[in-house]
Amino acid sequence: MKKIVVLGSSNTDLITKVKNFPAPGETIVGKEYMEAMGGKGANQAMAAHRLGGEVQFITCLGDDANGKNALAYYKKEGLNVSSSLIVNGVASGTAIIMVDEHGENSIIITPGANNKLNPTYLSSIENIIKDADLLVLQMEIPYETVKEACSLAKKNQTQVILNVAPARTIDEELLNNVDILVVNETEAETISGKKIENIGEEGVVNTLLDMGVDTVVLTLGENGCFYKNRKESISFGAFEVHQIDTTAAGDTFCGALAAEIARGNSWKEVLKFATASSAICVTRMGAQPSIPTEKEVRDFLSKNMDMVLK
Ligand code: RIB
Repeated sequence: MKKIVVLGSSNTDLITKVKNFPAPGETIVGKEYMEAMGGKGANQAMAAHRLGGEVQFITCLGDDANGKNALAYYKKEGLNVSSSLIVNGVASGTAIIMVDEHGENSIIITPGANNKLNPTYLSSIENIIKDADLLVLQMEIPYETVKEACSLAKKNQTQVILNVAPARTIDEELLNNVDILVVNETEAETISGKKIENIGEEGVVNTLLDMGVDTVVLTLGENGCFYKNRKESISFGAFEVHQIDTTAAGDTFCGALAAEIARGNSWKEVLKFATASSAICVTRMGAQPSIPTEKEVRDFLSKNMDMVLK
C-alpha cells in the first residue's frame, strides 16, 4: 500500500437545508441545521482514510473551540494529523453552507487558520512529503504553499494529485509539477481558458495536457467522469442515486481516487471506485458524515454495477 499525504484546509461546516437559496436582501427560514467537519483538504483526507488508504493529513487549525473539536474528531476517526500546525489567536476555518431541495449547495468559506499554512512551514514537513508516494492538494490554502509543496514532491519523486477547487487559474510552472489534475467543468475551463461549449470536454482536457499535466480527470457530475493521458482515455458514467446533498462529492471522489491508486489498481477500477464513493456521498447530508467506508463502497458496487448510466 502506497503512503498518501493530504495537505490542505480544515473547516467547521455550518449547514442549513433550505427550499431555495435566498435572493439579495431576502430573509428565509431554514428547514434543518447541522454542524459537521468539512474543508476540502480534510474531506479528501478523511475519504482516503475511510476508503482504506494509509493517510497523513497536514492542516492548520486555531487554538479555538472549533480547532479543538476538529482535532478530537480526527483522533476519534483514527486520521493521523500529528504534523499539523496549531496557531494561537486565529480562528479555525469555517464554511457556511446552504443546501437546497435538489441537493445543490452554496458555500461561503472563511479560511482563518487555513491561510496560515504558509510555505515556510513546509521545510518542517519536507521529510513527510519525501517519504510519501502520493501528495494530494486542493486550493483552500495559500497558492504559494500549494506551489512549493508540488515542487518539493517533484524533487522527491512523490506523485502529485491536484484538485483545483475552488476554481482558479494555475501557472504553468505549477502545472508542470502535477501528475494527476482532478477538475470539474468550471475548474477545467478556468485553467485552460477554453470553453467546453466551444471545443468539447476532450478539447479542454487536451488543452490541459498540452499545458504540461500528465493525466487529467474531468468530473462531470451526473454524467460521470472522463480520464485522459498520453496513452489512454476512459469515460465512466455515473450511478443513479437519490441526491440529498452534493457537498463533498468532489472531495470524496478525490480521496477515493487516491486510496485506489495507492492500492495499485487499474485506472478503470480507480474511476469506478471513486464514482461509486461520491454517489454514496450525495445520498447523505454533510461533508464528512457522508463519506462512506471502503466496505460500503464495495457492497454498493457489487449490487449496483448495472445502474451505471453510461
Ligand atoms: O467541498 C466541500 C467543502 O467546501 C465543505 O466541507 C466546506 O468546508 C468547503 O471547504
